[in-house]
Amino acid sequence: MLNIAIDGPAGAGKSTIAKIVSKRLGILYLDTGAMYRSVALKALKEGIDTKDRLSLVKVADCIDICIKYRDNEQRIYLDKEDVSECIRTPEVSRAASDVAVVPEVRLKMVEIQRGIAAGNEVVMDGRDIGTYVLPNASLKIFLTASIEERAMRRYNEQKAKGITDIDLEEVKKDIELRDKNDSSRAFAPLSKAEDAVQIDTTKMTIEEVADKIISLVKRKI
Ligand code: CDP
Repeated sequence: MLNIAIDGPAGAGKSTIAKIVSKRLGILYLDTGAMYRSVALKALKEGIDTKDRLSLVKVADCIDICIKYRDNEQRIYLDKEDVSECIRTPEVSRAASDVAVVPEVRLKMVEIQRGIAAGNEVVMDGRDIGTYVLPNASLKIFLTASIEERAMRRYNEQKAKGITDIDLEEVKKDIELRDKNDSSRAFAPLSKAEDAVQIDTTKMTIEEVADKIISLVKRKI
């Protein structure tokens, strides 16, 4: 069963690349960040302090997260509501990084992720896929890019969505804070698996990165 793990820090291009690679291989794409974002959205909606671990455990206990595919596109449902778009705000990004620290939250998300990988060939992107979720993945990729490039990509992404009240320096600070949070947590932190291939995408086009991963997949199978 072909399982590809793509990990890396915020804005390295994981989801863009994972989508293209999954399409070219004709297999599923699972964006695990969307799950942590959904937990964060629920916590924010309920007015819970995202640093309050006990309350977050309670949120995770009764959360209903469901992944569906529409025209091969992942949609994520939180308590039966499609939240695929509204989990993309900077506020939810920050909160996601907080809720992702809590082991009970992670264990619940990882159970869903492993369930999907057990029944499907999949390209999965996140922070701990190669190190924790799928330690036996067929191929592990660790995508990086300079902080300036990653901030610029996220800034342009928001602009393209019509969001105008953003500041590049703020975006950069948010990403730096999230990277620090994600790398320093005790349980399943962001890190490169020993057997992952690291690709620095700073000066590469999306197509070049996707081609490189496809050629690595072909070498493996
Ligand atoms: O797209 P971007 O890289 O900005 O973020 P994302 O992949 O949607 O993930 C949002 C947040 O969820 C991250 O900052 C992590 O804190 C958390 N996350 C995680 O801890 N483990 C994963 N496998 C995926 C995401």
